[in-house]
Amino acid sequence: MNPLKIGNLEVKLPIIQGGMGVAISLSGLASAVANAGGIGVISAVAIGMTEPDYMKNYREANKRALRKEIRKARKLTDGVLGVNLMVAVTDYEELLTVALEEEIDVIILGAGLPLKMPQYVTDKGFENIHTKFIPKVSSAKAAKVIFSFWAKNFNHVPDAVVVEGPMAGGHLGFKKDELGSEMVPLSKLIEETVNEISVFEKDFKKEIPVIAGGGIYTGEDMYKIMQHGAKGVKMGSRFVTTKECDASVKFKEAYINATEDDIVIIDSPVGLPGRVIKNNFVDQVKLGNTKPFKCSWKCLKSCDYRNVPYCIAQALFNAARGNLDEGFAFAGSKAFMAKKIQPVKEVIFEIKIDYYRTKYAEYLKNFIGNRFDIETIDLSQVIPALPQIKLA
Ligand SMILES: Cc1cc2nc3c(=O)[nH]c(=O)nc-3n(C[C@H](O)[C@H](O)[C@H](O)COP(=O)(O)O)c2cc1C
Repeated sequence: MNPLKIGNLEVKLPIIQGGMGVAISLSGLASAVANAGGIGVISAVAIGMTEPDYMKNYREANKRALRKEIRKARKLTDGVLGVNLMVAVTDYEELLTVALEEEIDVIILGAGLPLKMPQYVTDKGFENIHTKFIPKVSSAKAAKVIFSFWAKNFNHVPDAVVVEGPMAGGHLGFKKDELGSEMVPLSKLIEETVNEISVFEKDFKKEIPVIAGGGIYTGEDMYKIMQHGAKGVKMGSRFVTTKECDASVKFKEAYINATEDDIVIIDSPVGLPGRVIKNNFVDQVKLGNTKPFKCSWKCLKSCDYRNVPYCIAQALFNAARGNLDEGFAFAGSKAFMAKKIQPVKEVIFEIKIDYYRTKYAEYLKNFIGNRFDIETIDLSQVIPALPQIKLA
């Protein structure tokens, strides 16, 4: 497993923990992943809901809560930390500015094209900013639009790019009929994006890693997608059922109790499909029942808040706090694989073992051809170091 290099930043473990809102990945999870060698990410979306004055003072509450969580995480780790920010939120520029002022290591910009930069960036200049910029896209075409725009308007291009396929959890950048791994294979999206981005790598004389996300749960998934050109992976669901994840135990149990059939696609009020764990709330909304709410502000640019059947931010926050009667859990297509709550360190250990098991199995296969069934080989006999690996 090679470290992930993003400009002058070296990340020991090429894993980015997906930012998960509302209040699923805060300083607790982010610092644990950073301590384990990956990039720990705080989700900024509606983060102010954790503050008592959110309904009256939402903008200030969001900024205050984000700053607080970044500082809290910094106290808990010397590792690499990131913030996940949705371009589609109405206070995008303000939250981006907070993350930059706090000198967060990376910022992942999803749910829209990050074409507008706040005054802070124009005043300071990209070259004087510590933070690395990583847009999250669903196609090579979207990556090209962003990179071309930045090249033309900022004479600068993003430092890495996350490509998220249709099997991810949360809001998805695909049409409903594209939401199957066969329709838009992540491997193809990665190869196309690597190809597209190589032009900008040459023009700007810098390496721009492409990172894969969506439905990556095991070390085997990780190894396989990296064979298609990804330099790292982004995993969300895998980190939900960790001890350090900031969601309530009930939210984590929803993952553990879910079967594959429980993971379904809904039409989110923001106009995008979303992948969630089915429950009574989801069934009620599907039947056309509405959940009246008061919108204190229009937090998402695209939300038609007068006509949507419920408030998505409130539903997600309720679920995060364990009230799954009044909300639901976003989850990736492989979330049903969760079996127990574990420390982050143990999850990373399992991913690493599985990654190397797949890697060596493939070497062996190439070496001995197809004469043996690889599954029948006891790898601990072939790779002498394997039984000695201990959880540090
Ligand atoms: C519970 C949950 C909440 C999420 N919240 C956000 C979010 O607020 N903003 C965002 O850009 N992506 C969000 N995502 C997407 C993740 O950052 C990540 O890209 C995704 O989980 C990867 O797919 P996986 O869950 O199959 O690993 C969320 C995903 C989950 C599972």
